[in-house]
Amino acid sequence: MKVTRFSVSMEKEILDKLDQISEFMKFPNRSRTLRYLINQFYSKTHDKDEEVAGAIILVYNHHKRELQNQSTRLQHNRHHLILSVQHVHIDHDNCLETIAVKGKANDLEELAHNLIALKGIQQGELILTGSL
Ligand code: NI
Repeated sequence: MKVTRFSVSMEKEILDKLDQISEFMKFPNRSRTLRYLINQFYSKTHDKDEEVAGAIILVYNHHKRELQNQSTRLQHNRHHLILSVQHVHIDHDNCLETIAVKGKANDLEELAHNLIALKGIQQGELILTGSL
């Protein structure tokens, strides 16, 4: 991909924040940081028909009644969107599930929101790539 250089003007306070992000993320330069931030923005703003991949991350207590049955049912209903599921038993009570997904952004968001809304889910997040 062709790289274009450009100059940027910003207040010192904003630039300091940019450098703090670079340091925190261990990026070697501001270009990498800006690229990362721009990708972050676009990974949250997709057209609904855009083909993307990503992951749904769920944390829950497996003792909650019916939660796993409901989650499995939702996932089977949308099996064409799911690439893989990794289930980790974090401790005696809690589970971490990472569901790799691929499909239209709108369908992935709907699946993620349905899963995250299940009673007993403690944490849930959808992470999407840029368009494919
Ligand atoms: Ni478990």
